[in-house]
Amino acid sequence: MPAIGFVNGTFMPLEQATVSVEDRGYQFGDGVYEVIRTYGGTPFRMEAHVARLERSAKALGLPMPYSNREWGELVAEGLKRAEFAESKVYIQLTRGVAPRDHAFPAGSRPTVVMTIRELRPLARAIGEAGVEAITLDDIRWGRCDIKSVNLLANVLARQRAKEAGAFEAIFVRDGTVTEGSVSNVMIVKAGRVITAPEGPRILSGVTRSLVLDLARKEGIPVEERTVVLEELRHADEVFLCGTTVEVLPVVRIDGRDVGTGKPGPVAARLSERFKQAVT
Ligand code: PDD
Repeated sequence: MPAIGFVNGTFMPLEQATVSVEDRGYQFGDGVYEVIRTYGGTPFRMEAHVARLERSAKALGLPMPYSNREWGELVAEGLKRAEFAESKVYIQLTRGVAPRDHAFPAGSRPTVVMTIRELRPLARAIGEAGVEAITLDDIRWGRCDIKSVNLLANVLARQRAKEAGAFEAIFVRDGTVTEGSVSNVMIVKAGRVITAPEGPRILSGVTRSLVLDLARKEGIPVEERTVVLEELRHADEVFLCGTTVEVLPVVRIDGRDVGTGKPGPVAARLSERFKQAVT
């Protein structure tokens, strides 16, 4: 079964999907995106992803090309064509094609791109063993709440993590923990789940929101507040959450054990609840 591409209203095999070299997404990173995965073949929290796409697009002054219902129909159509057991849907919206000039071009039409690829979930063993992370200076811009395609700082950070033999890079800005290069970060201290508050320093993760709800339902106290680096270093547990990582314990940071150096009970409980919620 081929992966599927979609460009401006037309589905095609992924390898045939192309856009102009003068697309502003390509030349300026002038665009926004979403990554949605399926569980049991159904897109997970589609409405939340489309709502965030709309917020991101609005922040850039980009018109939404489709209604919520139309997005739902397009994704459903793509999934039907791809026929994968589980899929990863990538949606990208850019300001479109125009001669290169920084200011917005008059009358450009947004480029809408979608790709549907087979989802390869993280190996179960990785979740059970936990992963390593490194900390890095958060050199990103001041609007990390916008899911913009400008991912260079994230790309460089994840590469640094990979070169260090780690899974994720955790960003630290002015001594406070913001998020990971591809995930939100939560710590556990004395039975409480603590994570950076929503705002311009983090992406408001769809998974983050679900995990915090699950924690509250479990009677686990939740604090959305600034987390300083020392708290990360001395946390009982640390875990990542995101569409691609789900709930993933971090057992070593910068070469030092987190807590016991093994995945902790709170992350395990939330991971279990998360699996129940998505199936
Ligand atoms: N990224 N923070 C950052 C910087 C992210 O890139 C992501 C996800 C998250 C988690 O958000 P959510 O739970 O809504 O997936 C947090 C996607 C998966 C990506 O860029 O591939």
